Amino acid sequence: MIPIPRKMRFTEGTAGRSVPVKEKICAGLGREEYRIRISPEQILLESSGEAGLFYARTTLGQLRLEHGEGLPCMEIEDQPAYTYRSFQIDCARHYFSVDELKKMIRMAAEFKLNHFHWHISDDQGWRIECKRYPKLHEIGSVRAGDHFGNYHSDEKYEGYYSRDEVRDIVDYCRRFGIEVVPEIDMPGHVTAILAAYPELSCLGTPVEVGMKAGIFKELFCAGREETFVFIENLLDDMLELFPGKYFHIGGDEAPKQRWNECSHCQKRIKEAGLLNAQELQGYFCNRIASYLLAKGRIPIVWNEAVYGGNLDKEVVVQLWTEDKDNQIKAHLDKGGKAILAMVENCYCDYPHGMHSLKDMYSLKAEPAELGEGIEQSVLGGECLVWTEFIRDNERLEELCWPRFAALAEVGWCGRNRPAYEDFCKRLEASFPLFEKYGIHATKREGWDPDEQMAAEQTAQFQMNFSKEDREEARRAQENV
Ligand code: ACM
Ligand code: ZN
Repeated sequence: MIPIPRKMRFTEGTAGRSVPVKEKICAGLGREEYRIRISPEQILLESSGEAGLFYARTTLGQLRLEHGEGLPCMEIEDQPAYTYRSFQIDCARHYFSVDELKKMIRMAAEFKLNHFHWHISDDQGWRIECKRYPKLHEIGSVRAGDHFGNYHSDEKYEGYYSRDEVRDIVDYCRRFGIEVVPEIDMPGHVTAILAAYPELSCLGTPVEVGMKAGIFKELFCAGREETFVFIENLLDDMLELFPGKYFHIGGDEAPKQRWNECSHCQKRIKEAGLLNAQELQGYFCNRIASYLLAKGRIPIVWNEAVYGGNLDKEVVVQLWTEDKDNQIKAHLDKGGKAILAMVENCYCDYPHGMHSLKDMYSLKAEPAELGEGIEQSVLGGECLVWTEFIRDNERLEELCWPRFAALAEVGWCGRNRPAYEDFCKRLEASFPLFEKYGIHATKREGWDPDEQMAAEQTAQFQMNFSKEDREEARRAQENV
């Protein structure tokens, strides 16, 4: 079973297929907590509500898959270590159909992941029908070609989700206890938005929707009030579609060159009493965050947004890179919260030969470098898939699975998870689950590739980047 339940105790006898299943609401249990009692006469599922009951049914389903007709009698008491157990799919670089997303969501629900971080806007595409600013989907969802790595096509690439499709996805997730966390990345990674509304950038000049991977120069202008009016209106429109508690506002990889050269941004820095463009990013994030907080939502940002040292503590930080100058630690020391998504463990866009299943399972739930008592600051973890180099469903699935299942167990069991070898054994036994949902999961020989296979996969992946790409990325990174 994955994730392994916290407490399992075998009792006398077996329960055949015809033994009735009874569900009971017990007010005293936690929101995601559940109990199962299997006796020869009855199978009893208990929880305080729908979330826990769904998990009880899921666990029972996995038990049936494992044991067939006769279930050994047992008692299970189970609840997760972390409340935020998330998977991310980048639908901006490449569009994935509603059916494909549902397939991924259903699979994730089987492992009790409970947040779907939906990356819907980036330099290379805006993917949601927008009532307030329709040029976003009319212009921002179309690019003139694909030049990601060594793949080249001059064919138009387009796609967006209609509002009804978004509601359908949100509702589908809700049925399986999953909250959709949309991400509108800003102030960087906004080229597709700027292609539709160029007046929102510092230069105000036309740009094309991005066609290649990398870190782009153009940002939202943080000096002009019109930018904030636009973002707040856009958020209002999106909040209508996404009813969940969390909203991701990005904040990663925003090179500061434009802000350093923009008279509006420089004026803002002076008037707001800020030191530099890095602090301007904190200011920018705080303004958007306070808008969301006032609407009862919790904003999430990537860790770069912390580096100005002035980010409000109510903003949750998603960690993917290192803690520059102990700034993240300082944010957490102020009472801020974190979601763990370290590149080297959690990024499934890299082949298994670069980030193995074992790497995912080894994500430290309480990274020591962030200090004592970090457990209280960590909401949970996330597995991710960026899709610059993923153009079809099969590739998406074989990169994500079973690595997403490993993160699910990390999030459910926390520091008390079993040894990796134990996880692998259960994973092999769980393979019929992938078959049940038609998921092309990577098989055992591919999870933790040997040195030769790892070297081949690494070399193949590196071919996506030319020497110039690498140099440009390095320069851009220095300035975020
Ligand atoms: C990220 O990978 N740029 C968050
Ligand atoms: Zn500006």
